[in-house]
Amino acid sequence: MDLTKDKPPVTVELDLTEPPAEPPALPPVVFDAKDLNVFYGAFRAVGDVNLEVRQNEVTAFIGPSGCGKTSILRCFNRMNDLIDIARIEGTLTYHGVDLYDPAVNSVEVRRRIGMVFQKPNPFPKSIYDNVAYGPRLAGVKADMDTVVERALHKAALWDEVKDRLKASAMGLSGGQQQRLCIARAIACDPEVILMDEPCSALDPRSTLQIEDLMAELKRDYTIIIVTHNMQQAARASDATVFMTMGEDRAGFVVEHGRTIDIFTNPRNQLTEDYVSGRFG
Ligand SMILES: Nc1ncnc2c1ncn2[C@@H]1O[C@H](COP(=O)(O)OP(=O)(O)OP(=O)(O)O)[C@@H](O)[C@H]1O
Ligand SMILES: [Mg+2]
Repeated sequence: MDLTKDKPPVTVELDLTEPPAEPPALPPVVFDAKDLNVFYGAFRAVGDVNLEVRQNEVTAFIGPSGCGKTSILRCFNRMNDLIDIARIEGTLTYHGVDLYDPAVNSVEVRRRIGMVFQKPNPFPKSIYDNVAYGPRLAGVKADMDTVVERALHKAALWDEVKDRLKASAMGLSGGQQQRLCIARAIACDPEVILMDEPCSALDPRSTLQIEDLMAELKRDYTIIIVTHNMQQAARASDATVFMTMGEDRAGFVVEHGRTIDIFTNPRNQLTEDYVSGRFG
């Protein structure tokens, strides 16, 4: 069969004057760190961090142990205030407001900016009471059953626990406990959720569940995660911050940007060595 027979020649007109497409606009900035340093006593643990964290994105912090990822993460909700010898220099703004302004209420900061830790740390209470804990403390007037159910739904745990809400949280699996801790943070109606290696104590299946959950949660929240798992950072985050430390053990940011660029086209050799597993 001759497919060209009796067919008029096709001419394609290319409009070469078309301007190149604009790169997609980035979401608004939530946190802006300028020359941020963290000290423990005289020891400078992290130096001169300059970066922005954007709304409804997952931002991942990666880097070798001791480079200061947790120290920086704790700046975002003033958890360092709870460590006597910790001190910060530089500025960190949250929606343009200086987080460390003496007029800022650190309890309110921690309500808006929740945290989930490396090891699931449910309270030795019922599943229900764990989730209701924060709202009760804050004197929330809304119907508590609704608050609890909504938070458990959002943390993708409702179906697994709806028939045992009064049972102890300590009887849940590690992965369920970690999702309960996420539900507990969500119940306080935060805007940002900080997660410090939230999957390091979990098996691969629970890890993937948390990653799927992050993809859901970022529609409503801004998420900052510390992880040692390169695949997780590559899979789950929109922006990546790579940190390392110098001879004096002071940590610093080597490179930060879009996750795709950090993993496929890093500008710095140190980043390339780390993300390709040659170092760290
Ligand atoms: N409470 C503290 N008091 C004194 N020094 C501290 C304290 N917390 C952290 N440091 C020091 O600050 C540096 C950075 O620690 P940090 O915990 O932030 O690192 P990290 O990147 O989170 O490491 P890891 O990957 O092992 O969790 C380290 O040298 C650590 O010993
Ligand atoms: Mg840490």
